[in-house]
Amino acid sequence: MRIKQIGLIVLMLSVFNGTLFSQDAQIINVSNRSTVSLNGYWRYIVDPYQTGFYDYRQIQRDTQTRPSTAESLFLGYKAQFPGDRVEYDFDKADNLLVPRDWNSQKENLFYYEGAIWYYKAFNYVPTSDNMRQFLYFGAVNYEAHVYLNGEKLGMHQGGFTPFNFEITGKLKPNDNFVILMVDNTRKPEAVPTINTDWWNYGGITRDVKIVEVAETFIQDYFVQLAPDNSELIQISVRLNGDEIAGQTVSIDIPEAKIKVNVVTDENGLATTQVRARKLNLWHPENPYLYDVNIVHNDNVLHDRIGFRTIKTRGSDILVNGKSVFLRGICIHEENGVRGGRAYSEEDARMLLGWAKELGCNFVRLAHYPHNENMVRIADEMGIMVWSEVPVYWTIHWENENTFNNARNQLVQMITRDKNRASVIIWSMANETPVSESRTAFLKRMIETTRSMDQVRLISAALERHTKPGTDNIQVIEDPLQEFVDVISFNQYIGWYAGLPERCATAVFEINYDKPVIISEFGGGALQGHHGSKDQMWTEEFQEHLYDETLKMLEKIPQLRGITPWILADFRSPRRTLSDIQDGWNRKGVISQTGNRKKAFYVLREYYLTKKEQFK
Ligand code: GCU
Repeated sequence: MRIKQIGLIVLMLSVFNGTLFSQDAQIINVSNRSTVSLNGYWRYIVDPYQTGFYDYRQIQRDTQTRPSTAESLFLGYKAQFPGDRVEYDFDKADNLLVPRDWNSQKENLFYYEGAIWYYKAFNYVPTSDNMRQFLYFGAVNYEAHVYLNGEKLGMHQGGFTPFNFEITGKLKPNDNFVILMVDNTRKPEAVPTINTDWWNYGGITRDVKIVEVAETFIQDYFVQLAPDNSELIQISVRLNGDEIAGQTVSIDIPEAKIKVNVVTDENGLATTQVRARKLNLWHPENPYLYDVNIVHNDNVLHDRIGFRTIKTRGSDILVNGKSVFLRGICIHEENGVRGGRAYSEEDARMLLGWAKELGCNFVRLAHYPHNENMVRIADEMGIMVWSEVPVYWTIHWENENTFNNARNQLVQMITRDKNRASVIIWSMANETPVSESRTAFLKRMIETTRSMDQVRLISAALERHTKPGTDNIQVIEDPLQEFVDVISFNQYIGWYAGLPERCATAVFEINYDKPVIISEFGGGALQGHHGSKDQMWTEEFQEHLYDETLKMLEKIPQLRGITPWILADFRSPRRTLSDIQDGWNRKGVISQTGNRKKAFYVLREYYLTKKEQFK
């Protein structure tokens, strides 16, 4: 077997990494599979003391052989006789919409952090016989314990990545019920940890579906151009089921006149490489997506995939071999107009549409994996994406469970989005304090990422500071720069560090021949609040800060991108200044309702020049 083939198999084996927690193997591209939606109204019971989960001795009820029917909410038990004591009743409970966070649906849940039980009853008619069924969640924030018809399926931690459980043979034609205990309590050892600068929206925040697949089905695949060869498509497929060995799977890309068969090995894995000449390469100016069909036993799994190469050369970032400037903006997954977590296609089109109006070809999805609609619509709209795991500020670097949790979220993010042309950068972390254990932690995250994906670039949002003994020499003293492909850092000169005038004398000392992205800068302004450019919180102050900052950054020779903080004002419990913040971080260049601030136009102007410069 040729060396290249062996290399490819090693690469592909690692792409399909097993997950660490108790959900089943991750099924990708659920939106193109046969599914039954469980979205809609779910009953809910608020349980701040987790009485339905722990007994009065704090014993976890679902580990008990005979959990109390009176209090174990996961049983969905109904009184059987007059004297049958049951202290909950989902049928009498109020409703919450799914997908949605609970905070923006009920006033009395606006600040609620804790456990809520969700209940959904449903009948189920399989679309055809001999199918397997999986219960799929797009995301649940933060910890979910999932039960079907009173039986525990498993649990999941991490509020921003998908998970699924096999439920084949567990469904009845009628009167099925799914129950979840969802707990968004913040914990120091969690990921993210106890403090963040965003709203801790709780709930079943993305789609819930029953996914129907064949007994042996295409669980996962990777179809992308080789890292630096725009004429070579690397393909790997993984089957899941009883008959996975020696199976023929065909990959069909009609418009590219590519049709190739592969045969799976004993693990149900098949890999190959295909020459592809004259591909219509995906690029922000030409977001071309090919129809790709992956076929096994007449079961066709369709996807739309763009082909592009992304790499660095010195301080250049090359898309299809051509140097680009990343005209970006940071985005939180929030729809400020409706309120609450964003989740839908419409939400994604609104947020990415605003970014397009700004002149962006790049977005940093902060600080956690956003819903799949965001990256699929970014594919369509030609917007490159930075995707990040919520390793944010000071998490427990020496806690192995914390590491496994972070790694699990990383693996799920990459597994879900590795076929998206728009995703060009995986980010390991944001503003994490330099220490040996922290750097070791992040290096392991980088190794996991490299083992899964050699196609994309790796970065993390680092921090700068003034070089000791100097007035305004800015340095990034962080060993992680050695291990990332792109050096990115957040800088708030003119906001958290002095006033905008300080930008004029700042000098950045960056001793790496790598591309530099400013992953955050900015300042707050209340939209419609006007005054002099020296007056804090006015649009004029923010406008002035942007003016000064952009001039300052232009002095960095390796500068190849910026993602100012942030597209739109967003909710944060840390922002309490009355009449200005009122629970909103006001650093948006647009208000939460979509009204542009003066800084919006400064940035748009700058992006017009950058587009010209890098055309
Ligand atoms: C930080 C952080 C953001 C935060 C921002 C701010 O850099 O990464 O999450 O919202 O600064 O202070 O507004």
